[in-house]
Amino acid sequence: MRTAINDLRALIRQHEHKYYIENQPEISDAEFDVLMKELETLEAASDAPIPPDSPTQRVGGGAVLGTRIPHRNPMLSLNNSYDEQELREFDERVRRLLEDAPTEYVTELKIDGLGVSLIYEHGVLTRGLTRGDGEYGEDITDNLRTIRSVPLRLVETETPFPAVLEVRGEVFIPKDRLNEINVQREADGEPPFANPRNAAAGSLRLQDASITAARPLDIFIYTLNYAEGVEFTTHTASLEMMKRWGLKCNPHTDCHQSIEDVQNYYERWVAERHDLRYETDGVVVKVNEFSHQNELGTTSKYPRWAIAYKFNAQQAITTIEKIEIQVGRTGVLTPVAILKPVTLAGATITHATLHNEQEIQTKDIRVGDRIVLERAGDVIPKIVEVLTADRTGDEVVFVFPDRCPVCGTSVERSEAEVAVRCVNVSCVAQLKRRIAHYASRNALQIEGLGPATIAQLVDKELVRDVADLYTLEVEALSKLDRMGVPSASNLVYHIAQSKTAPVEKVLFGLGIFHVGETVAELLIEYFLSLDTLSKTTLEEIESIDGIGPQIAESVVNFFSQNQPLLDKLREAGLHCFTVETESIRPEASAVPDSFFSGKTFVVTGSLEGMTRTEASKEIKARGGKVTSSVTSKTDYLIAGEGAGSKYTKAVDLDIPILTAADFFEKLQQGDA
Ligand code: IVH
Repeated sequence: MRTAINDLRALIRQHEHKYYIENQPEISDAEFDVLMKELETLEAASDAPIPPDSPTQRVGGGAVLGTRIPHRNPMLSLNNSYDEQELREFDERVRRLLEDAPTEYVTELKIDGLGVSLIYEHGVLTRGLTRGDGEYGEDITDNLRTIRSVPLRLVETETPFPAVLEVRGEVFIPKDRLNEINVQREADGEPPFANPRNAAAGSLRLQDASITAARPLDIFIYTLNYAEGVEFTTHTASLEMMKRWGLKCNPHTDCHQSIEDVQNYYERWVAERHDLRYETDGVVVKVNEFSHQNELGTTSKYPRWAIAYKFNAQQAITTIEKIEIQVGRTGVLTPVAILKPVTLAGATITHATLHNEQEIQTKDIRVGDRIVLERAGDVIPKIVEVLTADRTGDEVVFVFPDRCPVCGTSVERSEAEVAVRCVNVSCVAQLKRRIAHYASRNALQIEGLGPATIAQLVDKELVRDVADLYTLEVEALSKLDRMGVPSASNLVYHIAQSKTAPVEKVLFGLGIFHVGETVAELLIEYFLSLDTLSKTTLEEIESIDGIGPQIAESVVNFFSQNQPLLDKLREAGLHCFTVETESIRPEASAVPDSFFSGKTFVVTGSLEGMTRTEASKEIKARGGKVTSSVTSKTDYLIAGEGAGSKYTKAVDLDIPILTAADFFEKLQQGDA
């Protein structure tokens, strides 16, 4: 049995390598899934512990993300050069310091993502860190493990693995996949990521590795930083070895004997970089010989043996024809520049967000201005400069409205935010957006309820809030423009269907400020129902891991003002108020009494044989509550190996502490 499992693991690793690293799959996705399922089944049936480098173990773990850990040696940055002159100066400095020894240069693409360090012990991935401040990185092991092109175990070669191997590389999100994520984020009421780098950084620092796993992250390894007991003479030799170990290195790496060749490589990629699946912001030029690198050394910030030769950001010049105000779902007024259409990096640009009033003032942006538009790795074009010298005098200063352009209510400017907001909750612009959000794919998913229909429903006052959707009848609907009886019946059917939506979808659909999909799930995992959530305190919401004071305040405010809306939804017959919907965890009331019932627990440290997430599930399944911080309301702290500040706090507050063994015993008592 054990060999069967091991053979299967090796086979899956081989296929993962073919697919994610070499981009040459040998079997179909379906065949791959069958192998994975088979492995899962064998592992479940076996008594042997599942090793952490098994292909089934990409998501899980439960280690605390974000612990600060020192790097073996600093993760330095690169000095930049922007033109051929600066490149030549770099070459001259290198030659002078090396006293004209023949110098070979390696050129690589500079990937625009997030630098990370990966540590393998005897071939098994044991730790992953962010670059952090260069001296200390953050522990993001669990999130890095979810990246399919990061091998959990290296490929064996004729020599044993080094006891410790540290490699460094860049995690990124492919360009095309970023668009998908942004469409999704906008539907979730979250701001889009401005560039692939932010998207990669945001994804790697998520507290929940299962969310990271769903992000299309990829990696290129560019440095072998340390290999215990193994010496290489050149950077290219180390790259070759890393590839043989199954690490993913970028294929567009070349060797050059002269700086002219380096310039040619750069020029080739100035032209061809747009065809790549990922964003690059330049070329990295490195001295190949390690003995030369050592001789050249580093400054406190940069190595003297490498330089980043950056690409120019892509720019275009156009004119602002108009500035419009959009009113968002939460009432925020966003100015948008309507541009004379212009092509930039292969796309026609007609709009550019101006973000807020302050942005218009600081950049002194006027209607009629000629402006420089830039897309530098940024998917969303931004206005980088106003060509004030081109002004004719006909440009018009934009006066930010004092009233909502849709409903006419006076706007509010808060001290804390730069945002200007229409505070009229009945503003039809907001209402239309709120309904669209409620009906969107990730909320209540009401098919057939598009913007044109919503606009008519609101304008004809058939719908004044989302609950009114449930009062709509075929007859009234069929009288709307472009809506016959068949589409109207269809819509009524889909609206009725939406009553069965799980509670977290309804919560997300309510469009509470700062409550995106993930936050909605976290809240429901903790509170189970809208009724409990609507009656809770700020402090309790804040105690949930991943939820900060801003979100908590927004939730409490929403429920203090919207009880009538909740009542209307309940009356409309939404299942989440009455029956147990397909909630993300079972209702506590269904659970028989146990030691855990009604008590609040905090779990910390590592519990041998169980992740903290599993422990939380067990507690919740027995009617207990799990929070993330120790307060006077905590009944017990469950402290595993390596418990830290939570332990100290529990001792300070006199909170009883259960060891992992005590906890397992209590679980078993309940089961008996
Ligand atoms: S070498 C000490 N090679 O660029 C030199 N860096 O601006 C270590 N980067 O922090 C870096 N692609 O995160 C190197 N092919 C490449 C790279 C690369 C992207 C990133 C890296 C570094 C940053 C410096």
